[in-house]
Amino acid sequence: MFSTETPAFHVGSIPVYGRAILSPMAGFSDVPYRAICRTYGSAMHYTEFVPVEALQGKPRSNRFWQRLDQQPSEHPMVFQIFGNNAQKILDAALNIRQLDPDIIDINMGCSTRKVSGRGAGVGMMKSPDLVAETFRLLTQHLDIPITGKIRLGWDENKNFLEIGRILEDNGAALVAIHGRTKQQKYSGQADWEAIAALKQALSIPVIGNGDIDSPELAQKMLDETGCDAVMIGRGAIGNPWIFSGRHQSSLSIEELFTGIQQHTVEMIDYYGEHHGLILFRKHLKRYLQTYQIDRDAITQLVSTDHPDTFFELLEKTKHQLSVVRQAPPARSQPNKTAHV
Ligand SMILES: Cc1cc2nc3c(=O)[nH]c(=O)nc-3n(C[C@H](O)[C@H](O)[C@H](O)COP(=O)(O)O)c2cc1C
Repeated sequence: MFSTETPAFHVGSIPVYGRAILSPMAGFSDVPYRAICRTYGSAMHYTEFVPVEALQGKPRSNRFWQRLDQQPSEHPMVFQIFGNNAQKILDAALNIRQLDPDIIDINMGCSTRKVSGRGAGVGMMKSPDLVAETFRLLTQHLDIPITGKIRLGWDENKNFLEIGRILEDNGAALVAIHGRTKQQKYSGQADWEAIAALKQALSIPVIGNGDIDSPELAQKMLDETGCDAVMIGRGAIGNPWIFSGRHQSSLSIEELFTGIQQHTVEMIDYYGEHHGLILFRKHLKRYLQTYQIDRDAITQLVSTDHPDTFFELLEKTKHQLSVVRQAPPARSQPNKTAHV
């Protein structure tokens, strides 16, 4: 539904074949989940954000480098980094260039105190000069597109239009915007009119982001803001089907469990059996959260780190859910079920 045969837009010279993109999400948008979302149509791939301080040494010299792993088929691949010092951001960007990303993105949207409190993430939006210097340096010294992801601003003095123009004037090839301020964090509603205003103000592509949890809302944001693509974060967790334009509720039980199984296999392949299954637990809860499933079954599924046991339990859960779906409502047994 959102994928395109010909490029939907370009980031610098890099073509993007679609208008729906998985958001960068620390703890979620890793290699396995990006692979799943890609199969359903996510058109561009962002790593989880990485602090520039961790990227000054040799590749893979600390755990953060793993966030820059990529699969050969992942294009366009965007490495996202954050920092509060233009020279350090440049040093890190030059250093990670050797891993061959298509694009490097600067996170100017993270609102956590640990990041924004020291002037990184959305903290950068308080320093337009730092934003200008960072993008001037990066676009002068790197031969790949440099992009930025921003919010509306720090507080109600929303300066996204000023920052957007600074980005464009200093060579940025694209801006993604989450329609909230740092103060709002995730509260209230994302302001889509602001996204439309940014799109109007800039000639580089704009990606809109905030509160999309269905294919209809993705299309609505595209239509209402005129943005070049939409980015989907929380609404894609446990719901990669959104990229193919499908509602999770329209899936057959077979399709749901095939997706879950594929994701589990990707996790095990990438992280190994033990770690893969442990890290998969948070995804599994999200896959199953809208289904009525026996509480004990969920507990068992998220307790095992043994693949054979896991897949057996998954099969049982699938069977149980098929029975619940087929049974007339009067015969279902709500007592022993839980929404996870
Ligand atoms: C768990 C989590 C981790 C996130 N990590 C990042 C990150 O690493 N980089 C980034 O730019 N944004 C990050 N975000 C913000 C999302 O990319 C996105 O802007 C935000 O969730 C709003 O979009 P949504 O309403 O579609 O979720 C994160 C959000 C969540 C919920």
